[in-house]
Amino acid sequence: AETTKTSDSDTLVMATNATFPPYEYVDGEEYKGIDIEIAQAIADAMGKKLEVDDIDFDSIIPAITTGKADMSLAGMTVTDERKENVDFSDSYATGVQVIIVPEDSDITGPDDLANDKMIGVQQGTTGHIYCSDTPKNGGFGEDHVTAYPNGASAIQALQTGKVDAVVIDNEPAKAFVAENPGLKILDTEYVTEDYAIAVKKGNTELLDQINETLAKLKADGTLQSIIDKYIKA
Ligand code: ARG
Repeated sequence: AETTKTSDSDTLVMATNATFPPYEYVDGEEYKGIDIEIAQAIADAMGKKLEVDDIDFDSIIPAITTGKADMSLAGMTVTDERKENVDFSDSYATGVQVIIVPEDSDITGPDDLANDKMIGVQQGTTGHIYCSDTPKNGGFGEDHVTAYPNGASAIQALQTGKVDAVVIDNEPAKAFVAENPGLKILDTEYVTEDYAIAVKKGNTELLDQINETLAKLKADGTLQSIIDKYIKA
């Protein structure tokens, strides 16, 4: 899903991958989710129209670095490697990598994944990066990981027995398990991470505006009410 859209002065282009409920997903003809609402608030504060550019997750950072999009909101985790290519805003949420398995699985935690299991992940995500790392670095090795274009197709592979487990962020995990009977999320949390908004390196003007809006949304309770709308305690 490549795009030819470019940003102009009246429009703020948000790159995302809308397969990640409750942060971003497609509902009928509409984009919905926590990130969409935060992006709308940023656009409103700047007096601009928000445009959603829905692309593959691993195309998001390239879209930012080449200027095809102004910012990314995609439940994107801040990592040192990504920081080499984009600048991140203050964090607005946290995510936890969790393990989804069939209800009758003998896998009880990360240690069991090391025993010749196949793990499904979304291409280019932190789950993909951690799991395919070497065992010495806490991963399971590339040979034990199959990457799918999105979380839903990884879940489908789990349902059909092509993989033994899926490693993905906790909130989409809850959404996928709710829609797919016979699956469960293991209690063991794998890694905790911060979500933030990425902009082109050096675009301090936009970054300052984003951080200012985030601070306002946090201070007046709007951010919490957006989160509460999508995430039931
Ligand atoms: N938090 C993870 C990461 O940054 C997964 C994000 C996936 N987001 C999405 N919209 N599909 O790598």
